[in-house]
Amino acid sequence: MGVDLQSLEKIPRHVALIMDGNGRWAKERGLSRIEGHKEGAQSVRAVLRAAAKAGVEFITVYAFSTENWKRPVLEVDGLMKLLVSSLNAYEQELHDNQIRLRVMGQFSRLPLLVRKRLQKTLDATAHYTQHTFIIALSYGSRMEIADATRQIAEKVKTGELKSKDINEQTIADHLYLPDVPDPELMIRTSGELRLSNFLLWQLSYSEFHITDTYWPEFREEHFFQALEAYNARDRRYGGIQKR
Ligand code: IPE
Ligand code: IPE
Ligand code: MG
Repeated sequence: MGVDLQSLEKIPRHVALIMDGNGRWAKERGLSRIEGHKEGAQSVRAVLRAAAKAGVEFITVYAFSTENWKRPVLEVDGLMKLLVSSLNAYEQELHDNQIRLRVMGQFSRLPLLVRKRLQKTLDATAHYTQHTFIIALSYGSRMEIADATRQIAEKVKTGELKSKDINEQTIADHLYLPDVPDPELMIRTSGELRLSNFLLWQLSYSEFHITDTYWPEFREEHFFQALEAYNARDRRYGGIQKR
């Protein structure tokens, strides 16, 4: 039986997803890895629709890590091309559902063509406020924290900030998207039990939902199942049990 959305007490504002298992999905079917990534793009579309239905405001997907540059050139190229073709194919849907696109990561490291294509959609959707779709691209959490530290150090050097005033909020304010709330829920597909350098700071108190489903198979029902699992959790933040 499907998940009854009405029965869910809490809907997270922000859900982050580590989209994993495209390669394994393809291999099991005798397809190329890039075919797996293509099918995975359909899952992104399904999740965006499901999130809108459920009333989740922010979706962040881990699309390409700083470590993923180590993959063969052919796969990296294929992923960059897929990003461009997906933007071409789905931009209208972002407008139809009033979804703002944002990116986080080392933007300057992306190929010029990809940056230009992204910038077009970033600008065209910048005025939407209800829903936000964030793509982590050439993203690494340790890099993000190092970048924040450098900015803070510069401010201390110029006297804009005193070192004794640095607190948790100072760090949070210097991350890539300081205005975005921390994800309440993080989903990882394909059963891997690790963060792979994703949102280390922001996920400090998030609930994790790990599913064995490969990303290309992850669709609306799986997203709703994750919301259901989240509803069964008792978030304590270091306090004591409430129920
Ligand atoms: C996730 O699938 C997509 C990216 C990391 C770009 P993988 O490509 O990591 O698939 P597996 O883990 O090899 O199955
Ligand atoms: C994490 O998946 C990165 C993305 C989903 C973009 P990987 O497949 O690269 O992670 P590892 O290598 O299993 O840790
Ligand atoms: Mg993987």
